[in-house]
Amino acid sequence: MIIAIDGPAGSGKSTISRLIASDLGISYLDTGAMFRIVTLYFLENDLDVNKDLGINYLKENISIDIKENNFYLNGKNVSKDIRTNEVTKKVSYIAALKSVRDFLLFEQRNISNNRDIILDGRDIGTVVFPNAEVKIFLTASAQKRAKRRVEQNLSLNIESNYEEILEDIIKRDELDSTRKISPLKKAEDAIEVDTTEASIEDVKNKIISIIKKESNEV
Ligand code: CDP
Repeated sequence: MIIAIDGPAGSGKSTISRLIASDLGISYLDTGAMFRIVTLYFLENDLDVNKDLGINYLKENISIDIKENNFYLNGKNVSKDIRTNEVTKKVSYIAALKSVRDFLLFEQRNISNNRDIILDGRDIGTVVFPNAEVKIFLTASAQKRAKRRVEQNLSLNIESNYEEILEDIIKRDELDSTRKISPLKKAEDAIEVDTTEASIEDVKNKIISIIKKESNEV
């Protein structure tokens, strides 16, 4: 079974997806982290984030591994490095490159092969798995999302300023929803869940009940 959770920055996708995966005993893939890994590679190698280097270049130079919630770029654990403000500011440019999307689409389908998995991202229900059994689109006000991100950064020891984060979130939403390839948008058959006023527990339970209902029907 494939469960697709899409939505804008800071809507709670990764927190909620991780909890659901652990409750249901299934796999979880944070696809945003994969775009962040490619962004980190570009930054570390002084590559232009607007330049499409082609899929062969990416395949030859970038190896991504994920083990127990840790992310590895060419063998190095980069779990913390991919959350820096520098990566966050550039990731939406990288995510607009065709070869990067094709490269990660292949990786995401490969990882998901033959298992029950929940994936979170921007285009999971529309492009990566248009036939996913469950599709959820999480939303929340930009202010609430910025507040959550500040709290999340605090827990990761990353310094952040609310106004800057809010600006970044609005800018990223705009870039992600207007790009030509695989823009952020709700799949027609996705169920929209607004998390502005809801607790994590409530959202989690709501989605789990949707999943249980769907799995009885499949
Ligand atoms: O956690 P946060 O909401 O900040 O974002 P993320 O899930 O880590 O994703 C970072 C960026 O990767 C997004 O702003 C998108 O530009 C891109 N992304 C994407 O294009 N497609 C996905 N399936 C996941 C992420």
